[in-house]
Parts: sequence; structure tokens; C-alpha cells
Amino acid sequence: MSEEKLNIGIILGSTREGRVSPQVGEWVKGIADERNDANYEIVDITDYELPFLGTTDGTEPGIAAWNEKLASLDGFVFIVQEYNHSLSGALKNAIDFAREAWFDKAAGIVSYGSTGGARAAEHLRGILGELKVADVRTHPTLSLFTDFESFTEFKPQELHLENVHTMLDEVLAWSGALKTLRQKEAVTV
Ligand SMILES: Cc1cc2nc3c(=O)[nH]c(=O)nc-3n(C[C@H](O)[C@H](O)[C@H](O)COP(=O)(O)O)c2cc1C
Repeated sequence: MSEEKLNIGIILGSTREGRVSPQVGEWVKGIADERNDANYEIVDITDYELPFLGTTDGTEPGIAAWNEKLASLDGFVFIVQEYNHSLSGALKNAIDFAREAWFDKAAGIVSYGSTGGARAAEHLRGILGELKVADVRTHPTLSLFTDFESFTEFKPQELHLENVHTMLDEVLAWSGALKTLRQKEAVTV
């Protein structure tokens, strides 16, 4: 089996002005980088300037770049925020812009909201099933009331650390296993 480190993208799910997802994503990346067990990178949807699906001819360079970025990753950590009891429209749109690039990979979810973003995260799990992404069980849930100051300044409680590590353990285990599956499929095609 390859000794190469896995590539894990930490996907920021929100794009609005004033969003807090970069703070949460950087916090997860800081914890992940200290483990020195994979290549972790922030993947920011805004960098790709994706249009709304189906409203253009699909030739925008950001669409191809988004698919190339996803194809280069072995697994994902979604930073998910709750918008009207679900995930943001921006994240759903970005997810819909790829198909095979998601297949046979693993994902963890870190969510936030008034109830830890739990409802958004559960909706995301259904979407990931359709895209053959294996979502791991452990799911750090951050509260807008107790993990943020004034709902904008991220001040996570210590208690989440253990959950983040367990979630990353699970993502790496499944990403590695599914990479083997993808390699086998590539050989038999
Ligand atoms: C359109 C909209 C709808 C929201 N709906 C919910 C909701 O249903 N439940 C909840 O817990 N928080 C809700 N919120 C609060 C967001 O979770 C909170 O503003 C969070 O910071 C958004 O993530 P972001 O800052 O990364 O964009 C909503 C925010 C917006 C902008």
C-alpha cells in the first residue's frame, strides 16, 4: 500500500460577507496540522466563483478548477453552518457542480448554529450518500451561544478537541480504505 499522505480538504460551506466559517476552518486545520498525519488544506468555495448551476454554459474556469481540486482530494471535512434548518445554498450549489470527483471518498462534518448546526449536518449526510461519500459518525457540533462571542468571534470550548481528533481519525481511516478501492477500480477499468 502507498505510504503517501492522504490529501484532506477542509471545505468552507458559507460564502456570505461577514461569514465565520474561515475562523472555524482555520481552527480545525490548526488541530489537524499538529497531527502531521495527512496533507490538510482549506478549500474555500468563494475562490471558485461558481455561478448558479444551470444559469450559464458551464465554461467558467472556476467550474473546472473546482472539479480538479475535488479530484485531487482523498477526503473532506465540511465546515457546515445552519441556514433555515439546512445547509447553505452556496454549499449545495458547489456540491452539485461535481459528481465523480466526490465518489468513493470519506467526509467528516463540523457544524455550527443555535443547536450546533445539527439539522444542517443531517441534511448534508443525505446528500453525501447520493454522491458515494462515506460520512463518518463523529461530528463536532459548535454552538453559536457557547462557542462564539457575540455570534461572530469564534472561541471554541476545550471539550470539542477530543471530538475533532476522533472525527479526523475516522476520516483518515475511511479515506485510506476508499483510496484503495478507487485504485482497484482504476486498474480494472
Ligand atoms: C439566511 C440565514 C438563515 C439562518 N437560519 C438559521 C437556522 O435555521 N438555525 C440556526 O441555528 N442558525 C441560523 N442562522 C444563523 C447562522 O447559523 C449563523 O449566522 C452562522 O454564523 C452562519 O454561518 P456563516 O457565518 O459562516 O455564514 C441563519 C443565518 C442566515 C444568514
